[in-house]
Amino acid sequence: MTTGPTMPIAQLRDVSKVFDPKGAAVTALSGVSLDIAPAKLTAVMGPSGSGKSTLMHVLAGLDRPTSGTVHLGDEEITKLRDDDLTALRRRRIGFVFQAFNLVPTLTVKENIRLPFELDDRRPKADERAWISTVVHRLGLEDRLKHRPNELSGGQQQRTAIARALATRPDILFADEPTGNLDAKSGREVMAIMSEAVRDFGQSIVLVTHDPIVAAHADRVIFIADGTPATELNDSISAEAIAATMLDIDERADSAVSR
Ligand SMILES: Nc1ncnc2c1ncn2[C@@H]1O[C@H](COP(=O)(O)OP(=O)(O)OP(=O)(O)O)[C@@H](O)[C@H]1O
Ligand SMILES: [Mg+2]
Repeated sequence: MTTGPTMPIAQLRDVSKVFDPKGAAVTALSGVSLDIAPAKLTAVMGPSGSGKSTLMHVLAGLDRPTSGTVHLGDEEITKLRDDDLTALRRRRIGFVFQAFNLVPTLTVKENIRLPFELDDRRPKADERAWISTVVHRLGLEDRLKHRPNELSGGQQQRTAIARALATRPDILFADEPTGNLDAKSGREVMAIMSEAVRDFGQSIVLVTHDPIVAAHADRVIFIADGTPATELNDSISAEAIAATMLDIDERADSAVSR
């Protein structure tokens, strides 16, 4: 893959997603064009039902858009056949789901190493060191032999985050990764994600409803009604983010009352 300094790591062009087009026809995304910069933390915010999860699924090749194109680096993933897309996802994309999607029969350690298993290889020495760092920082060391049903919701979530970070994918998508965590665990998750961006040039896109979480980002994109409404790029603070969210809610309310 060729990614120069100005080349986006992910790119959407005029992407729309309509669920059940022949029936109730829900437009989840409408004409979205976005460039995601590499080695940055990008936050996506917006009201419930505005299309954030759909956007992440389409960016990560988990769902196909109804129209428009998606690129990962210089590869147009919307052109790929299903099996090629699966292989690309396995090698180059990490995903933390809103529901954590851990394998119930595997231990925490096995879940975290699963992406390597699926890729038919063992983690190398530097990868094992990184996995240890992630496990330590996310407070999972004494849970490694447990299965997901023996974990709290927050521990399951942290395991899913460790698994997604383990392979240092080209890009990591995380859908509300701190949604079920207490404040301290949430801070640990954001600290390890920020460290991955800073130290490995990890590219991360995360969805959050929390202005304090989004304040860690290099860029905050606000989605409303299936399309980017506005964004913050500098002087990002929890206060500025909260004010922008309020502004979007008010615009939506006045549109409804008109
Ligand atoms: N598989 C599906 N079939 C039909 N409609 C869907 C499907 N998935 C999502 N939708 C609809 O698409 C719209 C966008 O949903 P999406 O899950 O992307 O919202 P969201 O911004 O992630 O919301 P939340 O903050 O609640 O997670 C919603 O109206 C939702 O009901
Ligand atoms: Mg969602």
